[in-house]
Amino acid sequence: MVKMILNTDIKKGKINKNIYGHFSEHLGRCIYEGIWVGEDSLVPNIKGFRTDVLEALKKIKIPVLRWPGGCFADEYHWMDGIGPKENRPCMINTHWGGVVENNHFGTHEFLEFCELIGAEPYICGNVGSGTVQEMQQWVEYMTFDGKSPMSDLRRSNGKDEPWSLKYFGVGNENWGCGGNMRAEYYADQYRRYATYVRNFGDNKIYRIAGGASVDDYHWTEVLMREAGKQMDGLSVHYYTRVSRDWSVQGSATDFKENEWFSVLQNAFYMEELVNRHSSIMDNYDPEKKVGLIVDEWGTWFAVEPGTNPGFLYQQNTLRDALVAGVHFNLFNNHCDRVQMANIAQLVNVLQSVILTDGAKMLKTPTYYVFDMFKVHQDAELISLEFESPDYMFMGEKIPQLSASASGDSEGKIHLSVCNLSPSQEADIDIDIRGMMVQNSTGTILTAGEMNANNTFDASNNVRTAVFGNLRLENNHVTGKIPSKSVVMLEIV
Ligand code: AHR
Repeated sequence: MVKMILNTDIKKGKINKNIYGHFSEHLGRCIYEGIWVGEDSLVPNIKGFRTDVLEALKKIKIPVLRWPGGCFADEYHWMDGIGPKENRPCMINTHWGGVVENNHFGTHEFLEFCELIGAEPYICGNVGSGTVQEMQQWVEYMTFDGKSPMSDLRRSNGKDEPWSLKYFGVGNENWGCGGNMRAEYYADQYRRYATYVRNFGDNKIYRIAGGASVDDYHWTEVLMREAGKQMDGLSVHYYTRVSRDWSVQGSATDFKENEWFSVLQNAFYMEELVNRHSSIMDNYDPEKKVGLIVDEWGTWFAVEPGTNPGFLYQQNTLRDALVAGVHFNLFNNHCDRVQMANIAQLVNVLQSVILTDGAKMLKTPTYYVFDMFKVHQDAELISLEFESPDYMFMGEKIPQLSASASGDSEGKIHLSVCNLSPSQEADIDIDIRGMMVQNSTGTILTAGEMNANNTFDASNNVRTAVFGNLRLENNHVTGKIPSKSVVMLEIV
């Protein structure tokens, strides 16, 4: 029996809703086909945006969406993506499959898409191959409400009022595809570019500096030391894979327990990264003014057989759902420093919430985890104490259970629990303190097989169900958390 103590009256800080953010890049079929089909498409659409995808995304309440990359961002020239579509120049998407990008999805389309799904836009600017002037003008184009060359250009393209734009990234992976810079050089570049990312009128921009790759703590140290006062957020990127060795790809669907275990073990590594990057940040910013922005995370497996290797199209199983649950619990538990996280990527790329095939669409297991966990958005993290049993495999161990809890503005308590064992259920006994419990209900995501997934022919193999296996007695809630499951409890 795992004893959990839930101190509902001990609040530990607000869980920024942006932890449940997403990322969409001009990569493979994420933007084109996944989001944008164009007004003349036979796929049902609203002003060129797929209706089915719009509806599905609205339901999970996406708080923030990052665009246009990724590596693509540091080769993107925003002026190519405005004005009449027939006049927009084509470019080659050198990073992702060498395909021709026609720029039909540009600034106006992205910001309109964000409005339609109710997400805040997070735009990533081009430091690697762009100029300071280009970045300055982009911000002016989007946000200046007075008369200026850029605001007049925006008006001539049909948008009189400026958009409100809160989040702006000054480059992406500038240690790699964003210019192969050293931390010392990028820190100076960041200071220079960020100077011209202006606040026009009431529009206050939260400036995000390009952060470290995985465990490059030197990068975080230098950025905080040299530019910590000029930034609101500092990013970090880490992808969960079968192995830390990038030459070992691993299949998204065809795996046994060894790869179930290694993937979940690698998912837990995110906690060490958050702790260690945070402790460097604490040194320069003890008041935690600068947010840690995990603006790329998620699983990365071999592409689906027969698909373009440059398109990063992968299936999504119950294992991905557990990876998502582990990440959300740890981001919630570190909400004092983690202010945003963006899963890679929204549709048809890496750990997507939606896959499409022509006019067909499916919701992945990861989609359902976002749906379940949306109750944590902007809620107060509350104190949860428990000791997880170990999940042992071939002499190695990871926690069997991952969990976090929050209280929302209506007084409802939500406890999310993931059981990582593929074969052992977990008996839990939650001692709820600080409130008189009236009722408890639950939702579960699980399946018979570790690699259960949704396909275009069977799109409801993995989906949420009511979790009724709960007992309330003496202010304790007890129940059995099935193996390989994600459970959300609501306690009122
Ligand atoms: O998400 C795919 C790629 O991974 C992004 O373009 C890049 O930033 C990262 O390396």
